[in-house]
Amino acid sequence: MTDRPDPMKGKRRSSQWYGKIDKDGYAHRSWMKNQGFPAEVFDGRPIIGIANTFSEFNPCHGHFRKICEHVKRGVWEAGGFPLEFPVFSNSESQLRPTSMLYRNLASMDVEEAIRGLPMDGVVLLVGCDKTTPALLMGASSCDLPTICVSGGPMLNGYYKGEKIGSGTHVWKFSEAVRAGEMSIEAFMSAEQDNHRSAGHCMTMGTASTMASMVESLGVSLPANAGIPAVDSRRYVLAHMSGKRIVDMVIEDLRLSKILTKDAFENAMVTNGAIGGSTNAVIHLQAIAGRLGVDIGLDDWDRLGKDMPCLVNLMPSGEHLMEDFYYAGGLPAVLREIGDSLHKDAITANGKTIWENVKDAECYNRDVIFPLKEPFKPNGGIAVLRGNITPDGAILKPSAATPELMVHTGRAVVFEDIDDYKARIDDEDLDIDETCIMVLKNCGPIGYPGMAEVGNMGLPPKVLRKGITDMIRISDARMSGTAYGTVILHGAPEAAAGGPLSLVQSGDMIEVDVPNRRLHLDVSDAELEKRRATRAAFKSPYDRGYSKLYVETVNQADKGADLDFLVGNSGTPLMRESH
Ligand code: FES
Ligand code: MG
Repeated sequence: MTDRPDPMKGKRRSSQWYGKIDKDGYAHRSWMKNQGFPAEVFDGRPIIGIANTFSEFNPCHGHFRKICEHVKRGVWEAGGFPLEFPVFSNSESQLRPTSMLYRNLASMDVEEAIRGLPMDGVVLLVGCDKTTPALLMGASSCDLPTICVSGGPMLNGYYKGEKIGSGTHVWKFSEAVRAGEMSIEAFMSAEQDNHRSAGHCMTMGTASTMASMVESLGVSLPANAGIPAVDSRRYVLAHMSGKRIVDMVIEDLRLSKILTKDAFENAMVTNGAIGGSTNAVIHLQAIAGRLGVDIGLDDWDRLGKDMPCLVNLMPSGEHLMEDFYYAGGLPAVLREIGDSLHKDAITANGKTIWENVKDAECYNRDVIFPLKEPFKPNGGIAVLRGNITPDGAILKPSAATPELMVHTGRAVVFEDIDDYKARIDDEDLDIDETCIMVLKNCGPIGYPGMAEVGNMGLPPKVLRKGITDMIRISDARMSGTAYGTVILHGAPEAAAGGPLSLVQSGDMIEVDVPNRRLHLDVSDAELEKRRATRAAFKSPYDRGYSKLYVETVNQADKGADLDFLVGNSGTPLMRESH
């Protein structure tokens, strides 16, 4: 235990449970003592809740019991009292119809647990895509001192001596099979080689992106994003985070003091530099919404526009997160882009972001490129607007084909994902590589949960020509591990009555990324006529959480949070339970 002064000892919210000399205090302490905790731990020391998203159904978090034990060691060492609690675990690879549907549910779970339980500070154990935003959203609505510990990426995948990445090679191999270049047997034989240790996806997909967002927002210790899940240094980071959260409680360093507009701007710039996932857009919007920080799609475009991509990782490049960590990790990237950061933004360790990274070294320039000679010229997010998506749609230029940035093509429309799956392999489908594929009803309400289906695979007859990219437009998301000229998050979505619902096969669509324009060449009068005869979307989800979700979810440009969850209510003490 450290001997630094703690003037608030015994006066924090946890003492409203454990410091009471009456029937209620007796009950709160006595039941806890059945776990073997001695009387002295109820002496008013900071109580640290550890939100654990361990689940055997979430393979990315298979090692979270061990991570949690190391966090607890750090908390004990610093004189706190750690108590672990479970939070719904969004498993990107196992949960149907999409883990995004349950991001907001998990955020409610952690929010109510933080508010209702006797804790003074929180450690969020996160990793798999949606877990990071879900827990940060919920914690932001409570605003206690909070630190994130990411689970870390898996070891690199290798197949026949070649690096293969999470997600990226699922898409690559499956397209190779559909093009007749790979046998289905060879594809299936790569399974065991792709994911071979605990940890989250090791491409620069959504999980690695969100871990980098956490680090650039300042709500984790430095190096959080890169350390592989099974590296001993990941456990050291967990230990040190446990130690640090106790001091954060004593310093009253709350989330709202770290997650300022400057911090979000730092994260948006960082997303450009790492060539991060498009999913970061929707998640950061949702987190900011809980804190009342005003960021919008135009901030993403403005801050990302001039930021090149420095990081040569799949899906935009060739390496993986293990290589990224050995090359210096996110601190090396943040040092490169220092002049674009708000250098004095405060972070979880009490230092500014610049103090944390100003001496960071890069050990491999084939993985992390210098700002002067970047890996790709544009890393940020482009926001396209026009009469199809008046509230915006997004594209990741670093993962797209430069020749398709300005293109006019004939729309081939799929009314929903079932329609797409039923027709895409049909040799008689009237489509070629100059066409623009349009997918409807895959947004927050339509799917529901805005699944990662926007990077729809190309028709086999196009693939057989050796063509690997076409423009695709939808109200869906795509996996952060995916690539291509894919225009996503179209808002308002088709199921909410957005103009995307009016597009018909044969319409011409103009895509002009440099001018941020997405235009349907159909007259307003014709669109009005189509609107009048269009059948309204009816969700089949009529009970339970899914019903609540489709009835209250905000559109993608607002972060797809539930409308009644936006904002925060802190941690007021609630009534005693008996
Ligand atoms: Fe969990 Fe990709 S499936 S991070
Ligand atoms: Mg994903």
